[in-house]
Amino acid sequence: MDNIIAITGATGFIGRALAQRLAAAGWHVRALVRAASYPQRPQDFAAEWVVGELQDPETMQRLVADTTAVVHCAGTVRGAVQNDFDRVNVDGTRQLVRTAAMQERVPRFLLISSLAAREPQLSHYAASKRRAEEALAAHAGDMFWGAFRPPAVYGPGDREMRPLFQWMFRGVAPLIGADHSRISLLYVEDLAGAVIGWLNNGWQQQQIFELHDGKLQGYTWQEIIAVVEQMRGKTIHRVTIPVSVVDLLAAFNLLSRKVFGGMPMLTPGKVRELTHPDWVADNSQLSLETGWKPEVSLMEGLKRTFA
Ligand SMILES: NC(=O)c1ccc[n+]([C@@H]2O[C@H](COP(=O)([O-])OP(=O)(O)OC[C@H]3O[C@@H](n4cnc5c(N)ncnc54)[C@H](OP(=O)(O)O)[C@@H]3O)[C@@H](O)[C@H]2O)c1
Repeated sequence: MDNIIAITGATGFIGRALAQRLAAAGWHVRALVRAASYPQRPQDFAAEWVVGELQDPETMQRLVADTTAVVHCAGTVRGAVQNDFDRVNVDGTRQLVRTAAMQERVPRFLLISSLAAREPQLSHYAASKRRAEEALAAHAGDMFWGAFRPPAVYGPGDREMRPLFQWMFRGVAPLIGADHSRISLLYVEDLAGAVIGWLNNGWQQQQIFELHDGKLQGYTWQEIIAVVEQMRGKTIHRVTIPVSVVDLLAAFNLLSRKVFGGMPMLTPGKVRELTHPDWVADNSQLSLETGWKPEVSLMEGLKRTFA
């Protein structure tokens, strides 16, 4: 069989959408799943499941053997200390890249990185995503690879952006601090389309790509709110939460992790990410190399997400 594609993270929000799309495009999908997640694995696409951990060399060998391509989407966005992120995002990537690069028939390799990798100084998460890219470049040898840096991705199954949009649909937009940020967004199906575009065309290189939904210069929060206002036909009230309050909550989260354990979402690093002024991405290189163009506007994406 010459169209086997290995995917990690297929039980998560983005990976699941990618795996569905790859299966629909005719790929034989071989997906990594952790033992604890196996009983809840998605059933809405055909897949050969490989049970195990990213950091385990033997599992990685079973995952990538005889593949044409590897899409590495597993990652962690929650943690308190650098090692919480590095263990999965850096060490896991290094192990998978090494295993892929040593195959007799070397597959091409796509890493789902993050726009956060552009600003590694902001947070442990951002630093780990940059270091994952560096691990890919360092251990790939001659293997062709790409690294996608998506901005905030939304769509059915998303847990990060969804609560904020839900608040907006109820008529309230909670925003942190004086809002000077511009952010790019991407609907998850467009990300899946970009992966297909890269697999079909743009893979004879070793390159990092940014991507977004086609809105040049991204959005201000006011523009995002205006789209939701248009959809609900009513005004949305902005509620400004002072950065100092969010900082306090984040510090409390870190403290409670020391006492109770767990993986907090809101940390001081996350606050620095949320208040960073420039999360605008640039599609031009990816479109040039692969011909991919995003198709789903914010309004259409929100309609599909909240249908
Ligand atoms: N969501 C966004 O807006 C966004 C934006 C830019 C980049 N990204 C990147 O996209 C990727 C996927 O994000 P997501 O939002 O889909 O996250 P998600 O819903 O939390 O999914 C994460 C996936 O990674 C798997 N995973 C985590 N730790 C693992 C480990 N040690 N071994 C094997 N698998 C492991 C999870 O498996 P389990 O089901 O077993 O937990 C799950 O399938 C991440 O690398 C993230 O950095 C996301």
